[in-house]
Amino acid sequence: MDRDEAILRELNLYPQWTLRATPEQPVGDVVAVMPAEKPAAAVAQSEEQVSVQEHPADEVDHAYAAYVAMEAARDEERLPYVDEPASFQVAKTWPELKQQVRDCQRCDLRAGCKQTVLGVGDEQADWMFIGEAPGAEEDERGEPFVGEAGKLLDNMLAAIKLQRGKQVYIANVVKCRPPEKHNPSTEQAQQCLPYLARQIELIQPKVIVALGKVAALNLLGEEGALDELRGVLHDYHGIPVVVSYHPAYLLRRPTAKAQAWQDLCFAVDVMQQA
Ligand code: URA
Repeated sequence: MDRDEAILRELNLYPQWTLRATPEQPVGDVVAVMPAEKPAAAVAQSEEQVSVQEHPADEVDHAYAAYVAMEAARDEERLPYVDEPASFQVAKTWPELKQQVRDCQRCDLRAGCKQTVLGVGDEQADWMFIGEAPGAEEDERGEPFVGEAGKLLDNMLAAIKLQRGKQVYIANVVKCRPPEKHNPSTEQAQQCLPYLARQIELIQPKVIVALGKVAALNLLGEEGALDELRGVLHDYHGIPVVVSYHPAYLLRRPTAKAQAWQDLCFAVDVMQQA
């Protein structure tokens, strides 16, 4: 059994989960889901990339200054993404945003969780997957989707030849763990949404996959049943959004994995056209 087959078996999808054939892409040959390179101007080095390289300090300072300047130049474009009251200004760059979220006290959730969970992955990713809120394991580890639902998400990514951290960024609507597996309230989600909006602006993904109803409704600002939102291409400030089931729901209802696979195939199609 090869690795792809093992992944599909793990997902309960083998052998029926195959990508649809297109004239360019025969069935069985899973697509390369990395689209064309981003324009050079859009490729700003992230904070980590700059700081981990072993270069003389002045080179690092130089690179960091260039990064900050590039970030500042892009700020103007980002402004329309975030709908924030005058009393609250969401940070504009990654370093500031990370600090702001760590320090956030905008709702009561922070008092009940161990740490904030901003997101994980490639900060220039083409793919962005958005869930609801951290659970207990995410709260412990400070990373989204590391529990059972996260393992399933990793397998779903692998099924379309993606890997956590490589061209993929994973985040949640809410950055603090709600108590006792509650859904975040509308108020809590609203307080946290500017952070997600800024993450999206900074990443500028080519496709967003909203996992579950909380992610879909908050991102799209639409009401409706999840099944009505699936299978339709939505838009978030010009970025295509595909809605699918939350992996935790798929763990409870494995039969829905077939529809989740359709959603992933749809997202791959969208990415190929991006
Ligand atoms: N569920 C989510 O929506 N996000 C996580 O990070 C973990 C579980």
